[in-house]
Amino acid sequence: MCGIVGYIGKRNSLNIIFDGLKRLEYRGYDSAGVAVINEKNEINYFKKAGKVKELENEFNGEVLEGKIGIGHTRWATHGEPNDNNAHPHFDMNKNITIVHNGIIENFKTLKKKLTQEGYTFSTDTDTEVLANLIEYYYKSKNNFEIAVRLALSEVEGTYGIACMCKSEPDKIIIARMGSPLMFGLGKDEIIVSSDAAAIVNHTKNVIYLEDGEMAVLKRDSFQIKTIDDEDIQREVQQIEYDLEEIEKGGFEHFMLKEICEQPESIQNTYRGRINFETGEVKLGGLDSVKEKLINAKRIIITGCGTAWHAGLVGEYIIEQFCRIPTEVEYASEFRYRNPVISKDDIVLFISQSGETADTRAAMKEAQRLGATAIGIVNVVGSTIAREVDCGTYIHAGPEIGVASTKAFTSQLMSLILITLMIGKHKGTISESELKEIAKELKALPEKIKQIIEKRNDYKFVAEEFKDSKNFLYLGRGFNFPVALEGALKLKEISYIHAEGYPAAEMKHGPIALIDENMPVVFIATKDKTYDKIISNIEEIKARKGKIITIATDDDTEINNYSDYILRVPNTLPIFSPILNSIPLQFLSYYIATARNCNVDQPRNLAKSVTVE
Ligand code: G6P
Repeated sequence: MCGIVGYIGKRNSLNIIFDGLKRLEYRGYDSAGVAVINEKNEINYFKKAGKVKELENEFNGEVLEGKIGIGHTRWATHGEPNDNNAHPHFDMNKNITIVHNGIIENFKTLKKKLTQEGYTFSTDTDTEVLANLIEYYYKSKNNFEIAVRLALSEVEGTYGIACMCKSEPDKIIIARMGSPLMFGLGKDEIIVSSDAAAIVNHTKNVIYLEDGEMAVLKRDSFQIKTIDDEDIQREVQQIEYDLEEIEKGGFEHFMLKEICEQPESIQNTYRGRINFETGEVKLGGLDSVKEKLINAKRIIITGCGTAWHAGLVGEYIIEQFCRIPTEVEYASEFRYRNPVISKDDIVLFISQSGETADTRAAMKEAQRLGATAIGIVNVVGSTIAREVDCGTYIHAGPEIGVASTKAFTSQLMSLILITLMIGKHKGTISESELKEIAKELKALPEKIKQIIEKRNDYKFVAEEFKDSKNFLYLGRGFNFPVALEGALKLKEISYIHAEGYPAAEMKHGPIALIDENMPVVFIATKDKTYDKIISNIEEIKARKGKIITIATDDDTEINNYSDYILRVPNTLPIFSPILNSIPLQFLSYYIATARNCNVDQPRNLAKSVTVE
């Protein structure tokens, strides 16, 4: 997704901007650019389709000297990803330069109006229209701040912007509506970004802009106002993580690092929240809605992508252990299908980034209809985390790889904790069952370590199947969503077509695809559906499909049915989705690396999708 970096201070801005842009690469992008104002108050710029490194290699450092500048990584929405459409954009007089995340929905209307006023355009972007609109007001008001304010008051859509003006070269103006933006306060310098990762190695003191706000940033001062010109006082907040935490730490890829971090990330999700003797769970962020949750007549869970899969597991376990009717909705559908929601409903919003536009829009809709909105979010201080009625952080730590891994298992753990909290108080989970679950929970990090130690086995299987064209993933019960997530991981990073299905549903269509070239991954760990899964495996074997099973360490029977086995330790059914997901993460990782795919930044994908 698009990323913004800006700098104003005493140092040369270019290296700081490049460094920041590289730290935002994980978000996914297709082009990049920078603009800098030099000592002579000239704006110089360079922009290009491709990676920041290519931009850095080609630009002429001499030309881009200056102590104030803005930079951008673009993920195309309007106009193809080429050099011309890359940001920064300019007005036709080259007085205003701007970088922009988001979408200006009424850009066609604005473009028409500006064209009638004699403005011309050289790109296909909505952003260039905004640059010209600011210039249009600048010409009559001769004041950059007023011009930005008037322009934004005409804009419909979402934006995070940083812009500079040649005629007022001592400031950067930033504004936000629906797209994250913050600035870090250094000594005699301010670093702007859409993501704390670009700021953290300069300062930990940050100010987050809220929707409908703008800020005028100078080297040694700043002023925040609403777009309607009301003054805002905002407290400085501390970024909670270190740079090392968001670097690779010796692993070849962020994704591999994050898969291997799961013994710790899972622990961080439950640390201090469960009494291992009694199984009693305390989630501070949910105290205010605990009674409501226990007495809920209905729970709705929503999210996108991997978070939606976590929600599906949540549906199975909440219904099983709490006996509360639970539904799962794609966030993107929820908003537009006029959902039947009342003030008695509880809606859980699952989001790693806390910035996904569809999830956020669904949250607003649920709140508008009076429901209680609860967040299950990873990124502290993110928009969803701030705007929900209450919530619980999953504490998985920064997740950089575009394909979500440790955040998924921590989302599952958070849903388990919520389930245990409700189940105990409703009396739908017995004391003894609760104790058994708490005991097993404590053993989980060790079991995850055992899975990680077997990673060469998964690598071996990956080598065997790296050239497959299609994959089928099948599971039942709690592990049906795990099959969906396994297929999604493979698609996302290896570009192999993969589908997940409930194993029995396979007979109603996908079985037609089975032949000797079709690998089928069965999640076949021992639970009450084991015998049924074995029957489903037989059906595939009879049609010569290749069988890869995820099976528990002590299961010897499975040897008779599998071509390849990925082993996991025994656990309770409630935890099996967590353990079973990890070999599938490894499988897709090793298949993708064997195919030389860019696993951390897969094509066309973004870590955080902040447009609808
Ligand atoms: C994007 C990412 C997925 C992620 C989804 C939801 O599509 O590529 O990995 O699952 O967004 O993101 P969120 O941050 O809301 O969990």
